[in-house]
Amino acid sequence: MTKPIGRLLILGRSGQLAGALQARAPQYFGAVRAAGRAEADLGQPGAVSALITAWRPHAIINAAAWTAVDDAETHEAEALAVNAHGAGEAAQAARETGARFVHVSTDYVFGGAPGGPFDETAQPSPINAYGRTKLAGERAVLEACPSACILRAAGVFSGGGADFPSAMWRLAQNRTEIGVVDDQLTGPTFADDLADRLIALALAHEASGLLHCASGPQLSWAAFAEACFDLAREAGLPGAQVQPIPSRDFVRPALRPADSRLASTRLEAATGLPAPDWRPGLVKALDAWRSNR
Ligand SMILES: NC(=O)c1ccc[n+]([C@@H]2O[C@H](COP(=O)([O-])OP(=O)(O)OC[C@H]3O[C@@H](n4cnc5c(N)ncnc54)[C@H](OP(=O)(O)O)[C@@H]3O)[C@@H](O)[C@H]2O)c1
Repeated sequence: MTKPIGRLLILGRSGQLAGALQARAPQYFGAVRAAGRAEADLGQPGAVSALITAWRPHAIINAAAWTAVDDAETHEAEALAVNAHGAGEAAQAARETGARFVHVSTDYVFGGAPGGPFDETAQPSPINAYGRTKLAGERAVLEACPSACILRAAGVFSGGGADFPSAMWRLAQNRTEIGVVDDQLTGPTFADDLADRLIALALAHEASGLLHCASGPQLSWAAFAEACFDLAREAGLPGAQVQPIPSRDFVRPALRPADSRLASTRLEAATGLPAPDWRPGLVKALDAWRSNR
């Protein structure tokens, strides 16, 4: 294990990724501080740069974002303020104070063109407001701080309650059959696995630019729901029958990409860690969900 050195600032506090980072980072950094919206609102110009300038972290991991995909359709300017302007301001402050900056982005920058899995050289083509704001954030971060790393991930889950597996396990308590889309492909990513790779990037000063965290095996949301229920049944909990449905039968305010699967071509060389397998993570997420509910 690397000897703990320096100060790490995590942007985000109560979020699922911010929580995983807070649990895992103290073994690598001498001091870890997590700042949520109350302490540094990314939507308020000046707030995050004031914090960075005052605390002078050696490294910053930005796990804060407007993540309400459907709400972003009707609040794109507010989502843009957080996901692009706030992220860019944090990256600028990192460059000015000499801090390492690591940012998190999403597979939803893809979807408007066929051909997944997409590697880091693929042209982004977001199909919803959230994806547009996250793409604008990537560009703002790299413009403000060219040495920054941006790790794109998909389908982040933790068992914390607001994620897809938690929703499936909750629904199965009252329903025997659940319709889940089978024409959208993803690579679900356990928050702890993503946190480990972000910490490695925060410590690995050579890497910069875009990287993909292509968790596998990649599959449809319906197949992922089946895996959630198989695991629940093995643990003696209720599991529902998955009814595969097309996206056109599950209409939501924001369009979802049919195929936004990622391909990792740089991650292992940059971090020493392979693209994660979500299956052991799902076991841990079920444990977390059971102990939280
Ligand atoms: N969830 C997914 O499926 C998914 C998929 C791909 C990529 N990602 C990316 O992964 C990252 C982490 O996502 P997550 O799933 O951990 O999200 P989450 O659970 O929704 O947490 C969001 C975090 O952002 C913070 N935040 C929101 N608005 C803010 C603002 N105006 N100012 C400061 N902080 C603000 C929240 O702060 P508080 O602590 O104060 O609540 C919270 O800590 C994001 O960049 C997201 O785009 C997520």
